Amino acid sequence: MIDLIILAVWLMLPAYIANPAAALLGGGRPIDMGKNFTDNKRILGDGKTIRGFVLGSFCGTMVGILQILLAPSIAPYLQGYVSEGMLTHASYVALLTMPVGALLGDMVKSFFKRRLGFERGAMMPVADQLDFVLGAWVLTYFLDGAWFTANFSPAIILTVLLITPVLHMATNFIGFKIGRKDVPW
Ligand code: CTP
Ligand code: MG
Repeated sequence: MIDLIILAVWLMLPAYIANPAAALLGGGRPIDMGKNFTDNKRILGDGKTIRGFVLGSFCGTMVGILQILLAPSIAPYLQGYVSEGMLTHASYVALLTMPVGALLGDMVKSFFKRRLGFERGAMMPVADQLDFVLGAWVLTYFLDGAWFTANFSPAIILTVLLITPVLHMATNFIGFKIGRKDVPW
């Protein structure tokens, strides 16, 4: 059980980092340039900025590189929990597709949120928590399917789906407490 959770967090970390990094470092020009869609509502809204996208992707990738560098030295400590091969089978494609996919998933969610009439920042349960997971998985699956299927077993996928909402809510609550988010979700 604990080994599944450790491995799930390890595999998801570049995607998990991208979201809060975008929230901490984002701001400035919105990706949709302030433009409206055909329904006269914003295409994405002010919550999706170029700086958030770029710096969020960058931080996620940096964490992924750090993981690849650290894996050989931390693998022995995780023996019994996680097989060494799992920790050291790096995908250089996934270094980009996990964080970029995460933030693309977040953008796609915002697009549909706006179409459904949700204001920027309004809570949309399930979608708000799993958008970036699905984005990361879909992009990685298409660009490095072999790595994806070798690492994301059905058990890992289920674990990620169960732990992500909890981690997401905890992170957002911290963001709210430190004044980086207007709402605790
Ligand atoms: N953020 C950003 N650029 C991104 C993604 C996020 O600048 N590409 C920042 C924004 O400041 C945003 C915050 O991170 O307000 C939190 O992200 P999120 O909860 O995804 O956005 P919301 O403001 O809730 O907007 P939406 O309703 O569109 O999800
Ligand atoms: Mg939000």
